[in-house]
Amino acid sequence: MPAPKVPKVSKVPADLDAWLSKNDSRIFDELNEFLRIPSVSARSEHDADTRRAAAWLHEKLAKIGFTAETIPTAGHPLVLAEWRMAPPGAPTVLVYGHYDVQPPEPLELWTSPAFDPQVRDGKLFARGSVDDKGQLWIHVKALEAQLAVRGTLPVNVIVLAEGEEEIGSEHLAPFVEQHAKRLACDAVVISDSSMFAPGIPSILSSLRGLAYFEITVRGPSSDLHSGMYGGAVVNPALALAHILTTFHDKRGKIAIKGFYDRVRPFPAAVLKGMKKLPFSDAKFKKEVGVKALGGEAGKTTLEKLWTRPALDVNGMLSGYTGEGAKTVLPGLSMAKVSCRLVPDQDPAVIERLLRAHVKKFAPAGVTVNVQARHGGKPWAAELDGKIFDACRRALGAAFGRQPVIVGEGGSIPVVGDFERVLKAPVLLVGFGLPGENAHAPDEWISVDNVRRGLRAMAMLLDEYSA
Ligand code: BES
Ligand code: ZN
Repeated sequence: MPAPKVPKVSKVPADLDAWLSKNDSRIFDELNEFLRIPSVSARSEHDADTRRAAAWLHEKLAKIGFTAETIPTAGHPLVLAEWRMAPPGAPTVLVYGHYDVQPPEPLELWTSPAFDPQVRDGKLFARGSVDDKGQLWIHVKALEAQLAVRGTLPVNVIVLAEGEEEIGSEHLAPFVEQHAKRLACDAVVISDSSMFAPGIPSILSSLRGLAYFEITVRGPSSDLHSGMYGGAVVNPALALAHILTTFHDKRGKIAIKGFYDRVRPFPAAVLKGMKKLPFSDAKFKKEVGVKALGGEAGKTTLEKLWTRPALDVNGMLSGYTGEGAKTVLPGLSMAKVSCRLVPDQDPAVIERLLRAHVKKFAPAGVTVNVQARHGGKPWAAELDGKIFDACRRALGAAFGRQPVIVGEGGSIPVVGDFERVLKAPVLLVGFGLPGENAHAPDEWISVDNVRRGLRAMAMLLDEYSA
């Protein structure tokens, strides 16, 4: 949807711009240091690295003048930093980001090693470059620019960084609930998403939620010779495949009873705005490397990605997958299944419906178990208020054009909790780009986007306090 007209501010303040230019190489050197720490939250063998990333960030925030604290949780620590010396009556902004990253595997598909940042073609390649260390870093350095140039900030700022976003943010929501007073703010600002296209700055108006499951199918008490038993014993791999194929109907809709009951249609204005965005299925197919697209019949690709739920298999395991052939009837099979949710679907309700569905379609001769992993609620917002206007002006100045409003298919579990508990609007302004390979080999962030993002986010504080 094209952004509403707001007064145009033509330029990033010269003092901030000059400081950011002068410190450009240090800003990237330090980001590279951050990216070299393999803070993979999902892997316990990286727990020490994850703690090291938290400590590193803590130290950087303390160095620019914030009061920083590392707060242990039952999982990975939170880094909380505060600067509260703005003039009386100034608003408070909470900046959220995550310092954990996804596992880098498959390693052999990286052009340069995942934790050895390298720039090629204006792209900074490394795990976490765009998701989310590079984007979190934009805020830290924008704050440093303000403090270095002006000796102060125009608003009070809280920086809250977690190390568990990529594994479901389990310990963050309870922390936010317990420390709602301390985290009280007038706006939350998050950069953990992407722009619609190169040169087109973007503000998010929705995120999908998530419900994640592991489905395990057990058959015979151990693997069997497929010649001696095949044909008479139910095969857990086939039983699982059968269950998985019952999840969708022929028109690409999810066939779990009641699944769509709580789906609230997106406002007509949002759907209309979406149709105006310059999106091409042909380009999208090329970007992902497929000849045809799938999903719900009768919906556009952007509708499918931003406004409709989806059910996907994220991984499968069963039987022999090594070199050559082994004749075996596996005793076990497993699939990881995720549901992306839209307002007002609820992960807990979806869990109940999925369990009932699996129970109904599980063939006799195997035992099927569903284990729920993490979840997160979907989110959508109206985007009116001072923080959004300020952001439109800052993006306009830094990118030379007004932002578009976009939806998003991914999830950031804590966003809904921030809104609900802190009762503050959440501004999601991302600096990634399509094809950035988040969660995949050769993840990158555009160096130009980092530079423009730094300017925009430094300027945002001025504009918000004005
Ligand atoms: N940065 C992403 C979320 C995202 C992805 C926002 C694409 C906008 C565009 C975030 O780090 C992420 O990957 N979230 C997970 C959440 C899950 C593990 C609970 C996701 O969406 O899979
Ligand atoms: Zn991610």
